[in-house]
Amino acid sequence: MNALMERLGLRVPVIQAPMAGGPSTPELAAAVSEAGGLGSLGAAYLTAGQIGAAGEAVRALTARPFGINLFIPGPLPEVTTAEVEAAIAELAPLHTELGLPPPTLGERVREDFDAQFRAALEVRPAVFSFAFGRLGAARIAALRAAGILAVGTATGGVEARALAADGVDAIVVQGGAAGGHRGGWTHDELEDTLHLTRVAVWAVNVPVIAAGGLMDAADVRAALGAGASLAQCGTAFLRADEAGTSAPYRGALASAGPGDTTLTRAFSGRMARGLANRVTAGVRCPLPFPLQNALTRELRAAAARLGRADFLSLWAGEGAHRGREGTAAELLAGLWDG
Ligand SMILES: Cc1cc2nc3c(=O)[nH]c(=O)nc-3n(C[C@H](O)[C@H](O)[C@H](O)COP(=O)(O)O)c2cc1C
Repeated sequence: MNALMERLGLRVPVIQAPMAGGPSTPELAAAVSEAGGLGSLGAAYLTAGQIGAAGEAVRALTARPFGINLFIPGPLPEVTTAEVEAAIAELAPLHTELGLPPPTLGERVREDFDAQFRAALEVRPAVFSFAFGRLGAARIAALRAAGILAVGTATGGVEARALAADGVDAIVVQGGAAGGHRGGWTHDELEDTLHLTRVAVWAVNVPVIAAGGLMDAADVRAALGAGASLAQCGTAFLRADEAGTSAPYRGALASAGPGDTTLTRAFSGRMARGLANRVTAGVRCPLPFPLQNALTRELRAAAARLGRADFLSLWAGEGAHRGREGTAAELLAGLWDG
């Protein structure tokens, strides 16, 4: 038991990672929290109204603490018409294969962060975590006033120090093995999770949460041995019964072997780790985030409907082949044996 576990009332030193885009459902978050870990909602792609509803859905299932996570927006990137046309031309044949018209870049490329943040504050989760940047002093103060712990994400020591200077309550350090988007903002560093944990524990004065490739109890113990207060695990929960992971995504995870993940900007324009497929192999000139994310939305939705894993973003960490099926409580028990 460490101070962060005590503060959050956890029996198990594991956070179920927020996983935006479907996998982290209210049912998954509630089941992990009920079992003594910290469940999280990946709310980055939800509207303010959906965030409120998701928070209520968790509360209807558990009185235990949980977290909500958002992406910090950067300035919207400027792109030329030629760049947009090239990105569309690359995706058009894939659309044709799925019987869709060519993609178009709509007006709404991301949610309104201000509104999302206000909605998250109103839910009053135990933890508000964020990735892709710094939250700013005013919002950190608002969280503190509401009794919510502010948790930032760093992929290297420099980012960890910046977050600590901003006054966050804890820092997720994300190693290079992690599934999903690289959560930092300076550049795409790929550190070993345990090394990065040791560096951050040495460099900052706030609790460190280790993330990336932690798939079993020995991994979690090693992270705590390196000085982490908690482990944050995403890939280990992707095949949980309560997760929102689509059927073709689950199928691809079940047949994944070692070395089957890759880093790609193909789906969103931002570097992320997932299982390699036709899109990661074929897309060469994605637009910057969040434009490519908006541009591939229809393709991903159709691929999920049609059961086409080869066109789906299959975010997963390097430990994907070690993942298991089961209830969230069973998977959590596999990550911590006391
Ligand atoms: C499917 C998926 C979606 C993710 N979405 C988010 C997210 O919305 N916000 C976030 O901060 N991290 C997100 N992550 C990254 C996790 O927070 C965490 O760093 C990662 O899962 C740890 O590595 P692991 O997958 O090997 O356990 C996501 C990871 C996965 C696998």
